[in-house]
Amino acid sequence: MARMSGKVAFLTGAGAGIARATARAFAREGAKVALFELDEAAGRSAEAQIRAEGGEALFIRTDVTDDAQVKHAVERTVEAFGRLDVIMNCAGGSLQEDRPVHLMDIDTWHRTMALNLLHPFLCCRHAIPHMIAAGGGSIINFSSHLGLKGSEKPAYAAAKGGIMSFTQTLAAQYVGYNIRANAIAPAIVRTERSIARWENKDWLLSDNPSPAAKARITMQKLYPFSVGEPEHIAALAVFLGSDESRMVNGTTIAADGGRSTYLKVSSD
Ligand SMILES: NC(=O)c1ccc[n+]([C@@H]2O[C@H](COP(=O)([O-])OP(=O)(O)OC[C@H]3O[C@@H](n4cnc5c(N)ncnc54)[C@H](O)[C@@H]3O)[C@@H](O)[C@H]2O)c1
Repeated sequence: MARMSGKVAFLTGAGAGIARATARAFAREGAKVALFELDEAAGRSAEAQIRAEGGEALFIRTDVTDDAQVKHAVERTVEAFGRLDVIMNCAGGSLQEDRPVHLMDIDTWHRTMALNLLHPFLCCRHAIPHMIAAGGGSIINFSSHLGLKGSEKPAYAAAKGGIMSFTQTLAAQYVGYNIRANAIAPAIVRTERSIARWENKDWLLSDNPSPAAKARITMQKLYPFSVGEPEHIAALAVFLGSDESRMVNGTTIAADGGRSTYLKVSSD
């Protein structure tokens, strides 16, 4: 029997990267998936791919930083699929303008918080009543190894650190409703975006890279096993979304090949 048979899930940022790979994995495991994505072409292409693979998918164009749009998308999901069991708040990322605190403009801080921290709150706020109605569910948030230890990107690190305590709070507040909340903290995952950003030697040479950026490139060369593919993160998300993880609640799981534990590089 498929591991997510009968479940309905939505995933944010599902047009690309980790969320797209996870939406495909959820669908292969029998879940019906709603794809919340800002980029129309990417969302349609993910929807078509999952349907071609025999899954049930519905693209809903959504800016997940907008409360009214999130509310609408959640309602559309329940209207189309009848219930809601699993939500994966995955859209996120850092901005190039996210630089040392005294050099950063306020807009960069707000935009980073909106995408990485406000959006999971908005999704939870509208989804939880439906999950309670379904008798329980699983919330999967996205942190980062940078949220565990700070970084040269202060806004992104603060948002991803906030996600961990938000996740613990969700777990505590909704355990009585059989709703679990966990977060995944990846390090380097080879999405199209990260490949373009980190494996582009021109960027490395042309942008006067910081010691941290140089260290990151070096680590990728030295420890290729610490660099993941979106499918590796999707496998963990399937576990968290399925009932197999019923005893896992309130945790942030580092999915980084061990990087946060034993690779003693102070500034990657
Ligand atoms: N890739 C990595 O190396 C890495 C490392 C650590 C943490 N993470 C975290 O994992 C998560 C997924 O990262 P990824 O690399 O797969 O992302 P990605 O950049 O590959 O994809 C993000 C998707 O989100 C969409 N999106 C952006 N803003 C949106 C908005 N306002 N509303 C709706 N959709 C929007 C984009 O169009 C895109 O399709 C993020 O939260 C990221 O911070 C990623």
